[in-house]
Amino acid sequence: MNKALLLSIVFGLMILPGAQSQEPRVYEAPLFEEEWSTPTRYPDRIVLSLGENPATTASATWRTNTEIDTAFAEIAIATAAPKFWRNARTLKANTITFDGSEVLTAGLISNYHSVVFSDLQADTTYAYRVGDGKRWSEWIQFRTASASKTKSFSFLYVGDTQNFILELWSRLIREGYKKAPDASFIIHAGDLVNNAHREQEWQEWFDAGGWIHATLPAFPIPGNHEYRPLNATEQANRIRSLSAQWNSQFTLPQNGPEGLKETIYYMDYQDTRIIGLNSNEQYEKQTEWLEEVLASTTQKWKVVTFHHPLFSASAGRDNPKLRELWKPLFDKYKVDLVLQGHDHSYARGRVSPGENVLEGVNLRDQTGTVYVVSVSGGKMYGLRPNAWEGWEAERDRAAENTQLFQVITIAGDRLSFESYTAVGELYDAFDLVKTPNGPNQFIERKQEAIPARRFDNTIPYQDPIPEEVERMLLERHKGFEIDRVAYVKEGDSLRYRVQLEKGDEEVNLVLDNDGKILEEVIEKD
Ligand SMILES: [Fe+2]
Repeated sequence: MNKALLLSIVFGLMILPGAQSQEPRVYEAPLFEEEWSTPTRYPDRIVLSLGENPATTASATWRTNTEIDTAFAEIAIATAAPKFWRNARTLKANTITFDGSEVLTAGLISNYHSVVFSDLQADTTYAYRVGDGKRWSEWIQFRTASASKTKSFSFLYVGDTQNFILELWSRLIREGYKKAPDASFIIHAGDLVNNAHREQEWQEWFDAGGWIHATLPAFPIPGNHEYRPLNATEQANRIRSLSAQWNSQFTLPQNGPEGLKETIYYMDYQDTRIIGLNSNEQYEKQTEWLEEVLASTTQKWKVVTFHHPLFSASAGRDNPKLRELWKPLFDKYKVDLVLQGHDHSYARGRVSPGENVLEGVNLRDQTGTVYVVSVSGGKMYGLRPNAWEGWEAERDRAAENTQLFQVITIAGDRLSFESYTAVGELYDAFDLVKTPNGPNQFIERKQEAIPARRFDNTIPYQDPIPEEVERMLLERHKGFEIDRVAYVKEGDSLRYRVQLEKGDEEVNLVLDNDGKILEEVIEKD
């Protein structure tokens, strides 16, 4: 070992512990320049979805600039011989111009192109590509559902992507794809982005998932963050509209009611009916539709997804109206599994079906619907202190400060649910088994998983704030709590960005490194 190296090791040992304890590490957030999300003549943002009958129907949507006003897709049964395209058929795409120039935070004008692939053969691997006749995407493969109801299949489910999408959701979705490479589709339970219309965030979502979005069919439903004011008038009148890009960039089953199409819809994947609801608006209209869709199904399994949970995972959050409207239907039609988001933590639990809880009967033997809340992006909230007792439900497993994805496998009479962390550890598991009459048999498997994760046994989520600054802020804004702290570098200066919360009131502050307030914005939702 030479002397210089030895010296540097000693020096390193000397400064390292001190340096770690003195200064919090400042996170350098990535800069996203505007040009990054600008469309070109080449197809981008390719996303695949399935039709109401996924054995015969799929759809693809993509984006170009407005120079490309005619576009096509080609599709063929895939074979290992490279010239499988000899058997391809060409479909002309439906092209619409999305003018985001007047939409807050959108700003771009682009063309969206979509095709519906119909009359496909069941249980068959297809390859498709999209383009304008000259500029083409790669050939992308997917597989149709089986016509047999008994063939086993898996799908992925993720909660809110929403924040730090490119930075942190990328690793999560890629880990998910590695864990379940044969997944038939992926449910996105709302809040795919933070600001409904913001091109940068959609760009992040498409870049983070990359070609996974083009090959693993998406089943997305909108969350509250897919609703934001489109313009100054809406902003002034506190009106929020669905993401301006939503209907253009997703091509989904058209079986929802008028005015809500592509935000509520269902598909029958073999013996499972998957129903997506929109927990943001027009509840009564959806409830009527939901009852029809649940009453008419002959599928053995019923899975419902929407954004706002019936049983909240996090503190200070509750959606009583939705619970009142939808839970009776989930009970009546024995919905097996409800997949939700919104709360930025993890909770899984059960209720007993209907009113028939007899005294002395263990709730575990009376399993009705299983409810799950999960989060996949980088924003984390704390768990509520009440573990659902207040709603006569039982929360069996929970997590804080953990990015998760779920793999659900349905094989005949058994549904296996597994939740994994962003680094692929099993975090939660249970099975449901159909019984001839009555509720599903519930098999707890959380004992197979890693120990429970909470804020106090994981790397701190919040940046630290000096005690005297915290005291000063809480004195200044009585009754508020500190919701978020970010210690950031702005130019050459270090700043604290702090958010305080009290009910629907919010205070956003910027403080300098000495705790002096530089900015203070008070908002009421
Ligand atoms: Fe949300």
